Amino acid sequence: GHHHVPLSPNLTACHRSLSDADRPVYCCPPKPASEETVIDFQFPDPSAPLRIRRPAHKLDKEFIAKYQRGIAIMRALPTDDPRNFMRQANIHCIYCTGAYNQMHTNSLLKIHRSRMFFPFHRMMIYFHERILGNLIGDDTFALPYWNWDNPEGGMFIPDFYLNGSFVDTQREKTHLPPQVADIDFDYVERGLGTEDQIEYNVNFMYHQMISGAKKTELFMGCPIRSGEDGFCDGPGTIELAPHNALHTWVGNTVNPERENMGAFYSAARDPIFYAHHSNIDRLWEVWRELNDHKLDINDPEWLDSHFVFHDEKLQLVRVRIRDVLDISKLGYAYESSDNVWMNARP
Ligand code: C2O
Repeated sequence: GHHHVPLSPNLTACHRSLSDADRPVYCCPPKPASEETVIDFQFPDPSAPLRIRRPAHKLDKEFIAKYQRGIAIMRALPTDDPRNFMRQANIHCIYCTGAYNQMHTNSLLKIHRSRMFFPFHRMMIYFHERILGNLIGDDTFALPYWNWDNPEGGMFIPDFYLNGSFVDTQREKTHLPPQVADIDFDYVERGLGTEDQIEYNVNFMYHQMISGAKKTELFMGCPIRSGEDGFCDGPGTIELAPHNALHTWVGNTVNPERENMGAFYSAARDPIFYAHHSNIDRLWEVWRELNDHKLDINDPEWLDSHFVFHDEKLQLVRVRIRDVLDISKLGYAYESSDNVWMNARP
């Protein structure tokens, strides 16, 4: 049909869904969201301090201790509390495996492999960050970003993920530091030495961010439409890789779907997920600026698409994509990092 409507979840029926390999999964909240009042998103207080997201490989001990305490608190919360760590992870499962239907259709709502990818994940980590800050009583708390595009130390799993509440036992052992990441990993070990892999990565970034991303759809992904025939399945450059590639690369080879990081339903159970997506989110901003915002999407069908999340006050909030396009209004910023790949023109 040609009657285009914004995408949104039908909260009245969260149901069982399927993993990437078509195995049944269940990630719905214990109390249905449809029984709660949903309010429209409001911008945070503009006079609150800006939260500065910093590269994960450059964090100091104090910050790491603070962040660790936040995750420990989240893990200890009961599962009927939406701030509980597993509940947070399940938001990803819900929207990525299709546990909600789209509003007004019988089609499943899935936010990957299309232009819903960047805004959905921006929203998800925005609330996660604010909940963490609230739990540790720090309104400057900001998620770190895993700076895997930075050859100066960023292309490894940051060391602190091997300790305390940052541990995920389901990571591929051979990919732990000092193994350099293959940001274009496609299930086969490339077998390059550290220097060569880093050079490969830098050149690959140039392609994904610049030479291969000169049109809106190439970078953002295809325009998914509401309803069954609107499924588009065309991920943008960055979503495909490094995004998907690193999910697969971090997850454990011996697990059926390379859980945790390698599968949509389980990915956000690994704390590194949030730093991975923080970098993705940063690169979305870098790409927009590189193109002077001329390639930004202004289709109202996209702008008015919305999803719901619990905020730090346990309030269920409806957030439209148009609400999250100015990160300064969202109260956070990225500490800049040298985007070395910008100069990697072949
Ligand atoms: Cu929704 Cu990194 O995936």
